[in-house]
Amino acid sequence: MKPSLILFLLLTLAVLSCSKNDNINIAEETFGVLPSGEHVMLYTMKNANGMQASVMNYGATLVSLKTADNMGQISEITLGFDSLKQYLEKSPYFGATVGRYANRIADGKFTLDGQEYHLATNNGPNHLHGGVRGFDKVFWDAETSQTEESKTVTFRYTSVDGEEGYPGTVNVTVAYTLTDGNTLKIEYAATTDKPTIINLSNHTYFNLKDAGKTDILGHVIKINTDAYTPVDETLIPTGEIVSVHNTPFDFQQPRAIGERIHDDHPQIAIAGGYDHNFVLGTKVIGMRLAATVFEPTTGRVMNIATSEPGLQFYSGNFLNGLKGRNNVVYNKHAAFCMEPQHFPDSPNKPQFPTVVLRPGKEFTSLTIYKFFLKFVGLEEK
Ligand code: GLA
Repeated sequence: MKPSLILFLLLTLAVLSCSKNDNINIAEETFGVLPSGEHVMLYTMKNANGMQASVMNYGATLVSLKTADNMGQISEITLGFDSLKQYLEKSPYFGATVGRYANRIADGKFTLDGQEYHLATNNGPNHLHGGVRGFDKVFWDAETSQTEESKTVTFRYTSVDGEEGYPGTVNVTVAYTLTDGNTLKIEYAATTDKPTIINLSNHTYFNLKDAGKTDILGHVIKINTDAYTPVDETLIPTGEIVSVHNTPFDFQQPRAIGERIHDDHPQIAIAGGYDHNFVLGTKVIGMRLAATVFEPTTGRVMNIATSEPGLQFYSGNFLNGLKGRNNVVYNKHAAFCMEPQHFPDSPNKPQFPTVVLRPGKEFTSLTIYKFFLKFVGLEEK
């Protein structure tokens, strides 16, 4: 064999093995450096169909999610920023892991085993999403792994006793897995050395149409429950669990988000849209299909299954002109969040499913987002 031919064959082999590795591996690049000196990495997982999920150490955050539309184009479906700096300055929890307590605790206080604990009141009179420096604002260690059909980034964080006013040193893991079945799984686990409370969720803002250029009011959603928890003027549940029947909160049959969002209903008026916990169950009884979202112009469908008893459906009411990724301006209702979690203010509402975690027990939670396409008009009869 001629030396030039051998060289050609070797080069071809090298190129082939490189491109194969690109597909197999989780890509890692520096996203930025925190003022404290930690390097924040962006980990990009790509599946066999070209779907992509990028996550970073800061806030164990889902930075980007790209899926196919019904024209075969793969594009962004979440809101986010191009740089770490923007996440540090003004993110309304874009894609973040929220904790120790996702959503609100009334007046920033709760009593556990006879002792009262005081937390930051960082949202009017209430505590929101873990406080001033919640899990969305800390650096998480990361580890990557993969199987034949999936890729995983696992984040770990130790929250010390007393952090943000919460008792107990808590060890938390959040694992993002992208599978070749077009699912993104988020698995949470936590243990503690003292009795404490825990409620973890993910705060991704979705817009399956155009990643926030226009509003989400045409998205058609179905939420599989007949009950929700109404709130007071500061968005704290009143404690009642009420029927969605004959209200704009009835999504048991698919309805566009915008269809009744301007209805004259006191709960819609309080929140400026939807910002409510839907009751999936009053006991943690395992995985169930919580919601389905369909975006008619792109054919995208997202199913959300979770082990959590509640689903906070938030229609992006507080977005008002924030400049995000690719300079897109995110206006009111530019995205929606579906946050599987325990009910807001559970520590002060004994009738809600418990959020207490005790030493020797492990908190676990799983949410699965599954994506597929609907080709309107082409369904089999
Ligand atoms: C959650 C809350 C909303 C709002 C957003 C963040 O979804 O329910 O009221 O605080 O977080 O802007």
